[in-house]
Amino acid sequence: MISVRVLCLGLLLVMPCCSTLEQKRPNFVLMMVDDLGIGDLGCYGNRTLKTPSIDRLAETGVRLTQHIAAAPLCTPSRAAFLTGRYPIRSGMGGFHKLGIYIISAASGGLPVEEITFARLAKEQGYDTALIGKWHQGLNCERSDDHCHHPRAHGFNHFYGITMTNLRDCQPGHGTLLVNVHAHIPYGTLGAGVATLAFLHLKGVVRVPRRLTLAAAILLALLVSSFAAFVFVFPNFNCILMRNEEIVEQPFNSENLTQRMTSEAIEFLEKNSARPFLLFFSFIQVHTALFASPYFRGRSQHGLYGDAVMEVDWSVGQIMQTLERLNLQDNTLVYLTSDQGPHLEEISIHGEVHRGWSGIYKAGKSTNWEGGIRVPGILRWPGLLPAGKVIDEPTSNMDVFPTVAQLTGAGIPKDRIIDGQDLMPLLRGEVERSQHEFLFHYCNGYLNAVRPHNRHSDTLFRNIWFMSWLMFMESV
Ligand SMILES: *[C@@H]1O[C@H](CO)[C@@H](O)[C@H](O)[C@H]1NC(C)=O
Ligand SMILES: *[C@@H]1O[C@H](CO)[C@@H](O)[C@H](O)[C@H]1NC(C)=O
Repeated sequence: MISVRVLCLGLLLVMPCCSTLEQKRPNFVLMMVDDLGIGDLGCYGNRTLKTPSIDRLAETGVRLTQHIAAAPLCTPSRAAFLTGRYPIRSGMGGFHKLGIYIISAASGGLPVEEITFARLAKEQGYDTALIGKWHQGLNCERSDDHCHHPRAHGFNHFYGITMTNLRDCQPGHGTLLVNVHAHIPYGTLGAGVATLAFLHLKGVVRVPRRLTLAAAILLALLVSSFAAFVFVFPNFNCILMRNEEIVEQPFNSENLTQRMTSEAIEFLEKNSARPFLLFFSFIQVHTALFASPYFRGRSQHGLYGDAVMEVDWSVGQIMQTLERLNLQDNTLVYLTSDQGPHLEEISIHGEVHRGWSGIYKAGKSTNWEGGIRVPGILRWPGLLPAGKVIDEPTSNMDVFPTVAQLTGAGIPKDRIIDGQDLMPLLRGEVERSQHEFLFHYCNGYLNAVRPHNRHSDTLFRNIWFMSWLMFMESV
């Protein structure tokens, strides 16, 4: 042991390659907030919503101003984050309108052939945990085969929800199933029956009794089966699990972030003497919004602002725990959002339940800048500069190769990885991001491209390239 150390020390003196970076295998705390807008954070320019813990993370780390989610929706964006690949490569960018899972009985999910950063870290001896939202599928054939479960993807521990938070998951927030487009057939049928009944009563037309009766029964059946579906929906889709066990069905959002935070602290304490990777995936600030009693009414921005403040509190707790356990200097901390804010969200009582994309146009589920430009903060004292701001294009897919390199696993060679190792850029060893292009998909469809030509900044070339690409898409 000693001789190895001496040898390495010797190498360090003579070889510039043996940098301090290669000596250290850091722990990882990767935090992702759901639907948080880049304009919601103090460190990205918000003056009224207080996020001191996240701001401190940025002050003591690197803040990325052009950090891009690989997709403007949860399921594909998270698939890209976990695997470092565009969602279409793993089949997680669909060709239908609905780009996410909303029913836990769906047989789809992140294919087990995909390699997540958790699996790589686990193979390198790290203890790994996912606390919070997964949204990458659950089962294939049976209700308990758990083929897409986080534990099938390299997470040793799981405490959280397999799907996403939905309006239906909390009483009093309405249902996402009330969507005007989906109900046009019901509405048309209802209006037809009502008109006929009216004309019949007025004596304008004579509708045979049996026909009226049959239509009324059909309508009642449709309405009651829909109501029954809405009624049972939370039981089947809002499920809190610990590993393979269901612990709440439907889950109770009361103090949920606090419970998740305690779980995270326990995980950190248990692993203070061995390498770990924690993916802390907030269930806030997706609707249905919730905030613990302590945070309710604290912000100037309604329940939405309260929820952001609770997220910030949780980040603070995790950072304090790292400090208390003396782990802050060998832990790489990352914070992001899975996509832009959900601008259309107004609660059934008319309260604004959406975040803010700042100066960027539009939000979640669009490929305008506001839909994909997300916060990106990385902190690793000693190895990363404090307070640095980087304006180069980076992606949430970059976390995968960064983790792969730092754990010693290396970047998988048997497949295309779209992300780029962030360390050279963060440490200032290179000035420019390695991305020559970032492609912007909405589900399986390519909407735009962000060229970052290594040899030229001329707009002409970029416009030419984009037109060419759009032409190719259209043929
Ligand atoms: C939530 O936390 C508050 C105070 O911290 C406590 O009074 C309350 O009982 C908790 N609720 C649940 C459901 O645990
Ligand atoms: C701060 O965030 C809130 C909540 O999203 C938003 O309403 C407000 O406009 C933001 N303020 C600034 C200055 O961006």
